[in-house]
Amino acid sequence: MIDIGCAYGVAAIPAGAIAAELEVGYLAALSGGMDRVGAVPGVGVSGGTLGAVCASNVSHFLRGAELEIEVERVREWLAPGGMVFVPSSTP
Ligand SMILES: C[S@@+](CC[C@H](N)C(=O)[O-])C[C@H]1O[C@@H](n2cnc3c(N)ncnc32)[C@H](O)[C@@H]1O
Repeated sequence: MIDIGCAYGVAAIPAGAIAAELEVGYLAALSGGMDRVGAVPGVGVSGGTLGAVCASNVSHFLRGAELEIEVERVREWLAPGGMVFVPSSTP
């Protein structure tokens, strides 16, 4: 799993997710040994490897073109049957 916009890791830590976050201070403060990556859409993940993507309350921070790129990348990252969770305000 990857948690995009993980902030302080409320979801990423218990899930053991890859932690994707714009703010490097948040990534540095995370407990746990998960992989830590930066801001989307610049994050690279091997194709077909993820069972789930969580992007909670972050999509509305992306510009339209960034959101289109990120959605395509998420599609590439997911394994067959993978799930996407996107609670969000209006993008
Ligand atoms: C409103 S908080 C949501 C935190 C948590 N996911 C939740 O639902 O409680 C949005 C988070 O997304 C991060 N963020 C904003 N733009 C981002 C981007 N392009 N890539 C990764 N994280 C981003 C912010 O730094 C912030 O930590």
